[in-house]
Amino acid sequence: MSAGQQAAAAEAAVRVRALRAELARHDHAYYVLDAPTIPDAEYDRLFQELQALEAAHPALRSPDSPTQRVGGKPLHGFATVVHKVPMLSIRTETDTTEAGAIAFDARIRRELGLAPEASEAAPDVEYAAELKFDGLAISLRYEHGVLVQAATRGDGQRGEEVTQNIRTVRAIPLRLAGEAPPVLEVRGEVYMRRADFERLNARQQAAGDKTFVNPRNAAAGSIRQLDPAIAARRPLSFFAYGVGDAEGWAMPPTHSAVLEALAAFGVPVCEHRAVLRGARALVAFHAEIAEKRETLPFDIDGVVYKVNSIALQRELGFVSREPRWAVAHKYPAQEAVTLLRDIEVQVGRTGALTPVARLEPVFVGGVTVTNATLHNQDEIDRKDVRIGDWVIVRRAGDVIPEVVAPVLERRAGELPRFDLLARYPTCPVCGSHVVRGEDEAAARCSGGLFCPAQRKQALLHFASRRAMHIDGLGEKLVDQLVDAAIVKTPVDIYRLGLLALANLERMGEKSAQNLLAAIEKSRHTTLARFIFALGIRNVGEATARDLARHFGALDALLEADEATLQQVPDVGPIVARSIVDFLSEPHNREVIEQLRAAGVRWEEGPPAVAPAGALLGRTLVLTGTLPTLTRDEAKAMVEAAGGKVSGSVSKKTDYLVAGEEAGSKLEKAQTLGVAILDEAGLRALLQS
Ligand code: IVH
Repeated sequence: MSAGQQAAAAEAAVRVRALRAELARHDHAYYVLDAPTIPDAEYDRLFQELQALEAAHPALRSPDSPTQRVGGKPLHGFATVVHKVPMLSIRTETDTTEAGAIAFDARIRRELGLAPEASEAAPDVEYAAELKFDGLAISLRYEHGVLVQAATRGDGQRGEEVTQNIRTVRAIPLRLAGEAPPVLEVRGEVYMRRADFERLNARQQAAGDKTFVNPRNAAAGSIRQLDPAIAARRPLSFFAYGVGDAEGWAMPPTHSAVLEALAAFGVPVCEHRAVLRGARALVAFHAEIAEKRETLPFDIDGVVYKVNSIALQRELGFVSREPRWAVAHKYPAQEAVTLLRDIEVQVGRTGALTPVARLEPVFVGGVTVTNATLHNQDEIDRKDVRIGDWVIVRRAGDVIPEVVAPVLERRAGELPRFDLLARYPTCPVCGSHVVRGEDEAAARCSGGLFCPAQRKQALLHFASRRAMHIDGLGEKLVDQLVDAAIVKTPVDIYRLGLLALANLERMGEKSAQNLLAAIEKSRHTTLARFIFALGIRNVGEATARDLARHFGALDALLEADEATLQQVPDVGPIVARSIVDFLSEPHNREVIEQLRAAGVRWEEGPPAVAPAGALLGRTLVLTGTLPTLTRDEAKAMVEAAGGKVSGSVSKKTDYLVAGEEAGSKLEKAQTLGVAILDEAGLRALLQS
């Protein structure tokens, strides 16, 4: 190497060291402190500069470089690591109430030979209290500050070597900050934040890959992933909670000081921790964390209490594989496994049918759960939940319990898929048809005005200002009238009398009279308002106005089929379908007739576009070869004019359009006396 080259190499080495330190600092700020220090673009620039220098000077490459977080090749299996200091498990206090904390303190006092009650001679014991993270236990071995090996707990004696995957976890430093000892084995939990979990699952689903049941499974699955490139795309986090092997390190005298030392080395340590004295303080910590649990960005399943003094920990020692000086005090489990007995549906205020799981009762989240939501058919399909499955049920906080996933290993033979529409072709509340729009998640009852489950909502909408505009008929009154069974359908509103109203709570005679006057006034309305008031799905105010203008009269709307409806400006197949669904329910037609009979009225006019209906209600049959039109063209013209094209001639046929080589259909039409047209005749008819 020339002197010049040597100088360049030395300069590069200095720059590489500086870049690595700076990038590590930004990683720590971003992934551990949650407080980014530079924009992403700037970070990328520094990263690329480092990559370029390492490429130009291979001698400078090093495993602790931020560029080496994803470098490994897929493995065939994991090597075994023997833990120098066994990775112990921790005893779980059986009592999840505050008595659990009191029992732990009492045991510690007894084992330390202290009187049950604290006194000056036998003071309160000092504890370190932490969260019990719900992830996967990991050991990180640092030699002279550099991460050299990462391993799972395994059976406590031997674990699996997962160094490649752990290197991809950006919160874990590849090099410790400050003066690191020759050997320091950090122990802690790899976990996944809830938001990261949701995003990962959404991504997996979009890519058609399998989704994870919960953050813990996602974290564990990612660490035990043989391809580090895949592991690198999994958003993992880490918290340290202790130390295993250590050489050349002056171990601090308390557990809390150990955690502080780890934090100073740049290792993530959770901020929700405390040093406490006596049982009462443990109880308070347990309660305080229970309050915060739902708002934490990650899952925990309890808290952990540890005797803080390392000397006392040594004195207390172990029973079999569990230290006497620590205990996990759990919260009631938020997930449990139970049998899915049946799937029923609930009809909501908007008519949406929600499938509900009927479960073998199970204690979860502190209560006995017998029902859980399954959201909708797509969710059932996505999770592949079937009646007769063992399922994981989750109840977190006050949230409605939900079925998370089936336990597929426990599925007994073939179970049929659940098909909501096949099982509930009609609404279990009112018997109307159940329909599901092409682009909709929910199946719905088309009972609308008639369905008791939708009654209050439908009535409120009917009476609202932009619909029938019945002043004074608001939520409280609708509740009262429906609950007292005085009003069932909108027609009942027009049958209300002073007596029934004045007898309602908080309703004086004056306000009853005012309401009756408002009801009276609403009888005279417009067709657009009336259509809007019906509460047809997908028919808002503007569509109602378009429909009124187009058809002019209600009867024309009532007779329209989907093709005719689509001739209305801005009415597409979805809206047309909703209208037809609504009007094909006899109950809804009945309500409309009763309203008219009750004196609800409006001005009617001629339809806006008369020729569009030239063949309205007519049935035509096409046969033979027409001189200029193909069969499809002729059919489209007939349908555009409101006519129907049928394949066979019957007494109901209005016209037969016959071309060259017309055969048996022509004969039949002649026998039945059906009017026969040629192409010119058809064109004339369309123009008429
Ligand atoms: S201390 C000797 N502290 O719980 C004590 N463990 O059986 C060793 N865990 O799988 C464990 N949060 O990974 C400790 N703050 C915490 C913890 C914690 C979660 C896990 C640990 C292990 C299990 C204990």
